[in-house]
Amino acid sequence: MASNVSRRRLLATGLRAASGLAILSRLNRVYAAAAPEELAQEEAFWKQIRLAYDRAPGILNFNNGGVAPAPNSVLDEQIRLTRQSNRAPSYELWTVLEPQLEAVRKRMAATWAVDAEEIAITRNATESLETAELGLNLKPGDEVLITNQDYPRMINTWLQRQRREGIVVKQLSLKVPVQRAADVVETYRRAITPRTRVLHCCHVINLTGEILPVAQLCALARQHRLLSIVDGAHAIAHFPFTLAELGCDYYGASLHKWLSAPIGTGVLYVRRPLIEHTWPLFGEWPGEDKNIRKFEEIGTHPAAPHNAILEALDFYDALGHERKAARLQALKMRWADRLLRQPGARLLAQSCREHSCGVATIDFPGVDPNWMQTQLWKQYKILVQEITHPEFRGTRVTPNVYNSFDEVDRFSAAMEQLLAQWRQQHAPAPAGTHSN
Ligand SMILES: Cc1ncc(COP(=O)(O)O)c(C=O)c1O
Repeated sequence: MASNVSRRRLLATGLRAASGLAILSRLNRVYAAAAPEELAQEEAFWKQIRLAYDRAPGILNFNNGGVAPAPNSVLDEQIRLTRQSNRAPSYELWTVLEPQLEAVRKRMAATWAVDAEEIAITRNATESLETAELGLNLKPGDEVLITNQDYPRMINTWLQRQRREGIVVKQLSLKVPVQRAADVVETYRRAITPRTRVLHCCHVINLTGEILPVAQLCALARQHRLLSIVDGAHAIAHFPFTLAELGCDYYGASLHKWLSAPIGTGVLYVRRPLIEHTWPLFGEWPGEDKNIRKFEEIGTHPAAPHNAILEALDFYDALGHERKAARLQALKMRWADRLLRQPGARLLAQSCREHSCGVATIDFPGVDPNWMQTQLWKQYKILVQEITHPEFRGTRVTPNVYNSFDEVDRFSAAMEQLLAQWRQQHAPAPAGTHSN
């Protein structure tokens, strides 16, 4: 951990004007020896990280899981590239900037330990996952396993294939909170029949924050010769892992969530031998059948967002993958430990790192999460996401690395006040006061 003197010197160096990467390179010198869990509690470090972001005054954004702001260094690069594209678009875009996407492909592949020829850069998780879901050849009667906790658009895409082509979509139900990873694997295993072709699962369930045992689910898929499609919208750059260790066939994610890349960026991984057997969303000539780039042929589009992914990767690497996960975990534990003291309160995923990290949903029995979301915004200008599912509900809370413990405490205090208001408004009428 940094000495007090070096910390004071660091804070005195006028970092406000510095870019995110300059801040991080200085911080990394001072805190080089700090273990991630230790650093996660070091507010002086995270206060400096805040300076790398432009933050909306007066708003407390605890819905980074929906979409996250990019650090200034990323945004500046996106703006610079946008200006460059606009000068002589047909030249700058197609001759200069588009070819630079190859560097992004290589960095993404190296970071998640797969071959660059298996990585396509897309606009979001929806585009990535729909490429896999709609691109597979399936026959009427072929079965696809999903859960009723998958993302609605991904479910609807499968259901559209069911309506259009007669495939069979089986929606499984997972217990909330998941008790043991093995229970999830068992739920999928029991649903496999000789007609099953695809196992689709979330890496992190957006409703609960639950981290599913993806490597085990993909191993199950391989064992039964099923194709595995993993929805990693909430997992990429949230906590460290590699695609190589998951062993999936397809992986789709947004990069504007936890990587904090420009809004409108995503990634699609396709295991190499499967590329030629997967139809792209936008038609391509047969000469490109085996080329991962066929999934990127979407027509004229801005190069700035996807090229600035490199800056986001620089920021993520400089921050440190394990450090980020440890801080997100620490932020969660700070509000969860306090709010779990409320009567009957429960998290929809266990709080240990095996089950969840920076995404967590809390349920207060009888309290309407929609009311809670509305009041948090109206009374406190705090952003969260209410969760309503037929089997459970709650308030989803997703702070980010630029949030402080003070802000988390403000949020917890606001929740306590709102819970008191709710109870006051919904207190049972005293005996004898009912009217006819
Ligand atoms: C689990 C999951 N999958 C897919 C998506 C779709 O992401 P996007 O809207 O960025 O395409 C989301 C968005 O929140 C999600 O949570």
